[in-house]
Amino acid sequence: MKLLTLVENTSTGGILKSEHGLSVLVESDGQYVLFDTGQSDCIIHNAKTLNVNLEMINKIVLSHGHYDHVGGLKYILQHTKAPIIAHPEIFRKRYSKKGDKLRYIGIEDKEFFENLSAHFQFSTTPTEVIKNVYTTGFVDLKTDFEEVDKDFVFESNGKYIKDNVPDDLSLVLNLKEGLFIVFGCAHRGIINIMNHSEKIFNKKVIGFIGGTHLGPANSLQKEKTIKQLHKILQLKIIGPSHCTGIAMTCVLAKEFPDKILYNNAGTMLDVGD
Ligand SMILES: [Fe+2]
Ligand SMILES: [Fe+2]
Repeated sequence: MKLLTLVENTSTGGILKSEHGLSVLVESDGQYVLFDTGQSDCIIHNAKTLNVNLEMINKIVLSHGHYDHVGGLKYILQHTKAPIIAHPEIFRKRYSKKGDKLRYIGIEDKEFFENLSAHFQFSTTPTEVIKNVYTTGFVDLKTDFEEVDKDFVFESNGKYIKDNVPDDLSLVLNLKEGLFIVFGCAHRGIINIMNHSEKIFNKKVIGFIGGTHLGPANSLQKEKTIKQLHKILQLKIIGPSHCTGIAMTCVLAKEFPDKILYNNAGTMLDVGD
């Protein structure tokens, strides 16, 4: 199975563009799944540059309804009408609320995308996407140290309600050796997501790439997550991206020098069968 990161906050260089966002293309047995789309048409530029034919995408998976993961979808729909798998809550009208200041961080509504011929398949449970590639489905908040951003709210009937991003899902690659996870933003916590996946597939996680959301996390969450990661002895690849941020990636690099892989736009990874 091969992974190619099309959009990330930074790039491997050359003429690849970067933006705050994430998109990863996964190939398994000649089939392709696009996981997230970045926030703009950056994905189209980078796909062209990396010689990726977007028409061959078989499925699209959206990790959650934040603009930096779904903003590129309207451009992608000009190239493929592949079914889009997501949790039904992706269309919440969501904001980041700091004091009185509200910033819209959601996406367009369902009708907007359906007018562009989008075909959604909503599911809250783990779903097979292509051969040996699954979604986690809904992830329960179980650890006592992982929490969803306090600033997140969504609007419902004129009220602002705390948004725990229940739509946050990740991709699970079911490999012979173990599980490889691709996180979108990991709003439900990377340890929660890894524990959830191990329970469902009855296999150990051997690596991950993607947004860990450890950048904005509080110091206790950072500390306890690192402690837990040290306990996962079979973990071979720690590939932070996106909302991990440079500072936290440096911390992880120092903690796990033999496992770190900085996963940015243009990074290609062969994770085996
Ligand atoms: Fe994000
Ligand atoms: Fe997010």
